[in-house]
Amino acid sequence: VRSLRLVGQHVHKQHSREMSSSVGPQRKVTILGAAGGIGQPLGLLMKLNPLVTHLSLYDIAGTPGVAADISHCNTPAEVSGFAGDEDLGKALEGSDVVIIPAGVPRKPGMTRDDLFKINAGIVKTLCTAISQHCPEAIVNMISNPVNSTVPIAAEVFKKAGTYDPRKLFGVTTLDVVRARTFYAAKKGLNVRDVDVPVVGGHAGITILPLFSQATPYKPVEGDELEALTKRTQDGGTEVVQAKAGKGSATLSMAYAGAVFAEACLKGLNGEKGIVECTYVQSSVIPELPFFASKIRAYKFLDGGAEHNIHVGPKVIS
Ligand code: NAD
Ligand code: LMR
Repeated sequence: VRSLRLVGQHVHKQHSREMSSSVGPQRKVTILGAAGGIGQPLGLLMKLNPLVTHLSLYDIAGTPGVAADISHCNTPAEVSGFAGDEDLGKALEGSDVVIIPAGVPRKPGMTRDDLFKINAGIVKTLCTAISQHCPEAIVNMISNPVNSTVPIAAEVFKKAGTYDPRKLFGVTTLDVVRARTFYAAKKGLNVRDVDVPVVGGHAGITILPLFSQATPYKPVEGDELEALTKRTQDGGTEVVQAKAGKGSATLSMAYAGAVFAEACLKGLNGEKGIVECTYVQSSVIPELPFFASKIRAYKFLDGGAEHNIHVGPKVIS
């Protein structure tokens, strides 16, 4: 931890010089679980993002090396790394966006629910610290099972009196990324032009890709619809099986996590027209208190202070 602080100080000096000529708001992004399979490439992608001015990397161990490594990339974001419980508060202080890929991944034969016991405890601990050290931050929950870790986070924040449903997001972007990729390939479209909304949740049949609302629109019906839907729903399992015991999706998840975090930063910075599918508290279906929907970021006034990002779940028929 000590050597990491030195790295942080060194990088900070470099950063101050570079930032003096930059424009745009100061934005601190913190990754909890930053030394893991997702955390490392996600840290790299956030270091490359010009909207990030401070990147804080936290894990129970291993973050000094990761932070030192990433900090050498010649992009402006200041990098600091923290390892161990006693440094969690410092890692979180002043965060605008906290991304959580901390916890155990699946092995072949497991469902995401099999991760509940261990990951629920990890998420509870981390969200308790968020409520104490950066209660205003936007939280991007990656840890599985997302369908449960998001409601757990909500309960922790409620108990602490810091819950703002407009700022808690389950990251389902990887489902969208997969649906786009598979649909574009099937329909011979340029994947860069394609969008496919995915609603519901982030496990098996709760993942509902809406190919009827894909753009550009090409009809998908019958067996083709069934096959594309199934491949999107089973995308995570496809990777788990291919990795054969060495974990689940990390690189595509880091990409998806970076896409979603960038949308949050753009929303915070007041950029218009930011729309993403994400798992949020919802009233779209009364029986389901949380539901992934298409969400638009917008500025809102809260107690006189200007915050932003949320959540007007645009109803999708
Ligand atoms: P990993 O084991 O490679 O990394 C997890 C990291 O979390 C490790 O570095 C570990 O030390 C750290 N960690 C554990 N307890 C911690 C704590 N209390 N505080 C901080 N860090 C802690 O796993 P991974 O492949 O990176 O996956 C992480 C999680 O993301 C898993 O639960 C996985 O199922 C989930 N995931 C979600 C999606 C999604 O679409 N939402 C996609 C892929 C993976
Ligand atoms: C995914 O969709 O890849 C993740 O949820 C990881 C998993 O366990 O499938």
